Amino acid sequence: MTNANPDIRRLFEPRSVAVVGASQDPEKIGHKILQNIVSSGYRGAIHPINPHGGEILGLPVLPDLAAVPGELDVVCTVVPGRFVFDSVKAAAHRGVKFDLVISSGFSEVGNSEEERRIVAYALAHGMRILGPNIFGLYSAAAPVDITFGPGGIVPGHVAIITQSGALGLAMIGKTAAEHVGISAMVSVGNKADLNEGDLIEYLVEDENTQSILMYIEGVREGARLVETLRQATRKKPIVVIKSGRSRRGAAAAASHTGSLAGSDDVFAAVMRQAGVLRAESIKEGFNLCKFLARTSLPKGKNTVIVTNGGGIGVLATDACEKYGVSLLDDTQRLHEIFSPVTPDFGSTKNPIDLTGGATEAQYEGALGAAAASDSIHAVIALYCETAMFDAAKLAPLFAENNTRYLQAGKPIVFSAFGGGSIDANIGRLAEQRVPVFDDVYEAVACLGGLYRHFRHRNTPPLVPEEVDLDLAALDEVIRGARADGRTFLLADEAQRLMRVVGVPMPRSRVAHSLEEAVAIAEEIGYPLVMKVVSRDILHKSDAGGVALDLDNRNEVIDAYQAILRNARAAVPNARITGIEVTEMVRRGLELIIGARRDPGFGPIVMFGLGGIYVEVMKDISFRAVPLNRAETLDMMAEIRAYPLLRGVRGEDPKDIDRVVDAVLRVATVIRRCESITDIEINPLVAYEEGQGVRAVDARVLLAKV
Ligand code: ACO
Repeated sequence: MTNANPDIRRLFEPRSVAVVGASQDPEKIGHKILQNIVSSGYRGAIHPINPHGGEILGLPVLPDLAAVPGELDVVCTVVPGRFVFDSVKAAAHRGVKFDLVISSGFSEVGNSEEERRIVAYALAHGMRILGPNIFGLYSAAAPVDITFGPGGIVPGHVAIITQSGALGLAMIGKTAAEHVGISAMVSVGNKADLNEGDLIEYLVEDENTQSILMYIEGVREGARLVETLRQATRKKPIVVIKSGRSRRGAAAAASHTGSLAGSDDVFAAVMRQAGVLRAESIKEGFNLCKFLARTSLPKGKNTVIVTNGGGIGVLATDACEKYGVSLLDDTQRLHEIFSPVTPDFGSTKNPIDLTGGATEAQYEGALGAAAASDSIHAVIALYCETAMFDAAKLAPLFAENNTRYLQAGKPIVFSAFGGGSIDANIGRLAEQRVPVFDDVYEAVACLGGLYRHFRHRNTPPLVPEEVDLDLAALDEVIRGARADGRTFLLADEAQRLMRVVGVPMPRSRVAHSLEEAVAIAEEIGYPLVMKVVSRDILHKSDAGGVALDLDNRNEVIDAYQAILRNARAAVPNARITGIEVTEMVRRGLELIIGARRDPGFGPIVMFGLGGIYVEVMKDISFRAVPLNRAETLDMMAEIRAYPLLRGVRGEDPKDIDRVVDAVLRVATVIRRCESITDIEINPLVAYEEGQGVRAVDARVLLAKV
């Protein structure tokens, strides 16, 4: 394990860097990296390492790391995979803090053992590894560019962490072309040691960084990452682009919960829960991060659309609904603010329609009025090309208003739609980092992202709630199954477990005589179900071993005798342990509660509409554990069938509090009890308020030992 945990600041602000495998050959990666370090204006010490010696780019080449004088914060390893372990070993002995292993040929091609060996050695000597299989790291704070990218990174306020190498390298050029200023760019590659969570701990405190973009393919240490993200998103906006929406892997899982929990559904839910914004594409990710890095947080939710076109105003209104942007609808207030600057035939209802005849002065007036009003917290400024407005004046109008709004701390986005001269204006404005788009949806998506971030910051942090669990009693149930060599619980074990957990199952006991059956029936109350208990009778109904809807003592007596008779006739030598007498579950709303240890995110819970059509309906939602009541209610409210819980068409509302209790209890078990991997209650029948819930069937899977 780690002996020392070097200060992550030294990775981003190294005082010295060595490149092992620096080469004279300008075509080699080891040369390009050295060249980028030199040309990025790095002010610390740079040490090329190569047994051939000599000079590269005017720097004296040292034969090995042992020859480097003074402290050494960062080493970049660019030697063929088979030499990496020895190089890492030398770096660790040299007291290096971080080793950026560029080399490929490890877990990405199945060579996981060598990768583990390298990381274990480094950690045992207090050195951290970035990679392997990375293109490197750029940090504006140093500044230093330790990558083999094209160079010329434009410094700014967006940090990018990418798991994809080639895409990340290409992003370097793209960010420059798209005027996304970069505070840091980190390639995490195989994430054998350092991962997104470690890097975010630095970036969230880095004053250069105003927003963070992550490109993720798969998650390592998901539970820890979520915890880091939860805290980080309270300080800075984080946007994630995730590829790989495959359900493979999940499909093989043994429970509904497993197969429903397609990795992407879980990822999306968990990121939302952690306050991370999800972008569908790199373009959307860039747009969001660029905007979020510059704008200030709104002071409230009232947004106003200012437009010279009715159609584009309606499009923007639709987009606002899609992206969760609230439009100010106080018509009186809007009239007071905008009537002095709106033409008579325009509209002061939101969208504020200046009409196709709008002049530059009217635009200026409307944007000025919105900037000055405390009732307006954000603005969407739209422009459709007309002959009434000199397109050459558009760029200065938008740029000046952008500056005015930035200074006023009021978010604004722009959209302009028209021909070549409009596009040219958009290009010029983008260079000045004005958030302007030809597509109104792109503009509103940026504001929507800001509002999601704003709302997240304004929700109180989650204080987990857990229930007390008798872990010893749980263990006892599990031990029984283990002793039998099983990794699942039988129905009666699952019932016992649910009793310990405190999720109500139908009351039930096994009778061994007629008298006992009657006594149990009287105790539980009617209606009842009776079932034969025999390990030799698998299909109880087919064997006539089940009686439903028993309403009184006489029916219980008749059923007891009939079940024994039928069972003996159907399977003559069956060993009959007794007859189970069970409370008959009334009809109610059928729900499902699932919980599992997700390979990426650790414990998660699922809630949804239950019953036999659960996989067809897929009306489900997910959360990472731990949870509290508020978060559980949020999760429940996400399913389409939620109104059924609140009561529709004159029905009484269901006992939502008891459903929440059941979810929290299941969540606590999956978090606390590591030997349980999956729990599924389906259906959990919910009754009217005050009448509770009943878990009709519970399936529990255990970890393989
Ligand atoms: N110490 C110092 N220098 C050494 C050592 C050592 N122990 N061993 C070898 N070297 C020197 C070599 O002599 C050579 O220098 P030279 O040109 O003076 O002879 C230099 O290190 C490089 O070694 P080469 O054998 O020439 O290796 P090459 O440069 O061709 O490849 C590399 C090395 C780039 C690490 C390669 O093995 C590799 O892994 N490439 C893939 C990198 C990659 O794609 N990473 C993921 C990035 S993200 C993406 O997907 C784009």
